[in-house]
Amino acid sequence: MLNNILKKAALAATCVGLLVGFNTAYAGGHGGKVDITKMTPEQLAEHLIFNSGGFKLEQKVQEGGVSRQRLEQDDLQKACSVTGGGAVDANTSVKVMNMARNDIKYPKGGIKLGDWKIGRELAWSGYGYRVGHRTDNHSTTKYGPGGNCYNCHQMATDRTGGNIGPVLTNYGKLRGSSDAILKYTYEVIYNPHAYFPCTNMPRIGAQNVLTEEQISHVMAYLFDPESPVNK
Ligand code: HEC
Repeated sequence: MLNNILKKAALAATCVGLLVGFNTAYAGGHGGKVDITKMTPEQLAEHLIFNSGGFKLEQKVQEGGVSRQRLEQDDLQKACSVTGGGAVDANTSVKVMNMARNDIKYPKGGIKLGDWKIGRELAWSGYGYRVGHRTDNHSTTKYGPGGNCYNCHQMATDRTGGNIGPVLTNYGKLRGSSDAILKYTYEVIYNPHAYFPCTNMPRIGAQNVLTEEQISHVMAYLFDPESPVNK
């Protein structure tokens, strides 16, 4: 019993030691010591992101500007943050859906389907919008940064996808390709908050993750009868 208590005390001491070490490691170069053990979780998060030097805040990002700017919420994110990650109330829903709808830009020649093979590359690629600890060189990716779709969606069955979003297998086969469904799909990809306010899906078009042309390729991947999504 006593032995057990001693072990626990030793473990606790080690944890404190680690924290202090961690604290001192980050303290240098930021005007004296910062005691992270006195911070609230929110303060600690802010400190680690903005003051610890661990995150490349001045890294250039694909949409222009630097990663620091990504950490400032835009109006839509602020509106959604009010919900605290919980249920979205009716007022917020309407507000966010309208904001999203106003954001959507349509291709000049109308919504068209591009090349599903390029679309597959873009849906597979997890490079798009990536920031953080290393700098991506997008000139080395053939079709551009990519849409990260498989991080969240199962699309074709020849590759494993994530399950944060709904399964999109047989998307075109099940829904057809009427103007209405093409428009809906373009809009969801461009700014999904127009239909799903405060969703987890990124604003692929509105945030410049993919260009209008790249979206047309991803849409071909969803709709083309020859695409593995519909096989
Ligand atoms: C971070 C996760 C995430 C990523 C990345 C993502 N999505 Fe989604 N997607 C979702 C979620 C979640 C939904 C469901 C909307 C909701 O209920 O919030 C969704 C919904 C959709 C829908 C509507 C589905 C329906 O049944 O009508 C389409 C189409 C879609 N996504 C396509 C894409 C494409 C194409 C990409 C890549 C360019 C992509 N998504 C990237 C999470 C994601």
